[in-house]
Amino acid sequence: MKKYYITTPIYYVNDVPHIGHAYTTVAADILARYYRMKLGAKSVYFLTGTDEHGIKIQQSAQQKGQQPEKFCDQVSAKFKLVWDLLDISYDDFIRTTENRHITNVQAFLSKLKEAVGPSGQPVIYKGRYEGLYCTGCEAYKTADEIIDNKCPLHPTYELTYLKEDNWFFRLSDFAEILKEKIKSKELIIEPQSRNNEVLAMIQGGLDDIAISRANVEWGVPVPFDLEQTVYVWVDALINYISALNFKDNDFKFKKFWPADIHLMAKDILKFHAIIWPAMLLALNLDLPKKIFAHGFFTIDGQKMSKSIGNVVDPSSLVEEFGSDATRHLIISQFQFGNDGDIKAEDFDTKYNADLANGIGNLVSRVLAMTQKYFDSQVPSAKYSASFDLAEFWQQLDDGYEQVKIYENLQTILAGIKWCDTYIDDTKPWQLAKTDKKKLGQIIYNLLEIIRHLSFALLPYLPQTAQKIWDKLAVNEQKKLLFAKIKKVGLLKPKTKIKKGEPLFLRKS
Ligand code: MSP
Repeated sequence: MKKYYITTPIYYVNDVPHIGHAYTTVAADILARYYRMKLGAKSVYFLTGTDEHGIKIQQSAQQKGQQPEKFCDQVSAKFKLVWDLLDISYDDFIRTTENRHITNVQAFLSKLKEAVGPSGQPVIYKGRYEGLYCTGCEAYKTADEIIDNKCPLHPTYELTYLKEDNWFFRLSDFAEILKEKIKSKELIIEPQSRNNEVLAMIQGGLDDIAISRANVEWGVPVPFDLEQTVYVWVDALINYISALNFKDNDFKFKKFWPADIHLMAKDILKFHAIIWPAMLLALNLDLPKKIFAHGFFTIDGQKMSKSIGNVVDPSSLVEEFGSDATRHLIISQFQFGNDGDIKAEDFDTKYNADLANGIGNLVSRVLAMTQKYFDSQVPSAKYSASFDLAEFWQQLDDGYEQVKIYENLQTILAGIKWCDTYIDDTKPWQLAKTDKKKLGQIIYNLLEIIRHLSFALLPYLPQTAQKIWDKLAVNEQKKLLFAKIKKVGLLKPKTKIKKGEPLFLRKS
């Protein structure tokens, strides 16, 4: 793999950023940071952004008594602000109201108009839509998706009955070829259960979809029918290539497309694993390599919702715990890919256990002993602990290949625990009185493991990693790629360390 292109969904601006958006975005940031260290910063492109068109946004702006442009500017800026607070290292932030996006959407639609599908028929045609539409989902609903006259995903929205002439995309024409690409793993859908879900959807039959709307002003005009605007999901999905300026076959498009991974939750899997690949196939464009749909979480056992009042604002978490700890608290709760529960009441305990008493305490203890017994200098020794650093990295590398963000964090936490046990077993404070050479060996081992742990922690806790590098005086190593950093013994004896402040203050 020479490059890595990773995307998050572009988030609707009808809502301010919440912990659900932060979950996917932090996960993407962890992967982007890992791959930058593996491949070099220039080989990674991390895209996020905001989805700003459609009836839902138009109505939200109206409810606030604002022009949609201004409303979108404000909410989109809030997303950027929260991503800055959480140290999200995106390379590009796309807004669907930007000209660079609109021109790409129109170019895409114009190409679709000319394209023919596998059956030899044009991929788009004019037709009549009649049925129910859920503004919350921004999607048409079939009878089996409606329960008690409501969309179960958005019970607060009234379903709208629509009868209009639209442009249709011949999705049905792509069912066979999509199935083939998924089965052959040319398009990987993970976790496996999601893969099966998508195959079952295709098996159940794919209906053609309306890709334009007749009465939605707040959208991209269809270039060959200016009375209509592009259906917001089609508009939104194109962001993944408009950010690379696909229409001009830009160097960015040539370098980064296809995406290595589209990250999202399971709620929008169908759009990404069926509609988007079919749209790409219609234009003979490469398919994304992997689609990873993680689970949905609840807060303290309940679905997050404004009416319950349990929507967690990431900025207040950052205020309370700091950026690194917030990242840790939301990623460390349950396996990435599964559904799970975020227990806000456990945050203090988890913060203390993993951060203050975990990495924080370990670094403080080992640096305090270096200061006390070796005048703050790394003792002269060669690494000799039984903690297998090569295996540690191998486990992390394999984990990242499989998007095992949660398991990798556990591997790092286990490394910290290993050091704690090593200290308890070897009792350096006793050796200080009896065997200074052996003490030097143990402290060296610990410092070298901490150096490795700090680089392993970089994707998760970027500020903490930086603080540890300052303490160990290994700042210049951050310019190196993982291949070099993983080498054992890069911590040079006699390096002057700085104990400094604790990494995390305990919560009482
Ligand atoms: N605008 C569309 C996406 C277009 S992408 C071409 C959209 N936006 S959204 O604002 O509703 O974001 C949905 C995404 O937010 C989910 O797929 C997931 O990434 C994230 N999450 C929102 N709430 C979440 C949870 N409660 N749990 C996990 N992820 C959550 O859909």
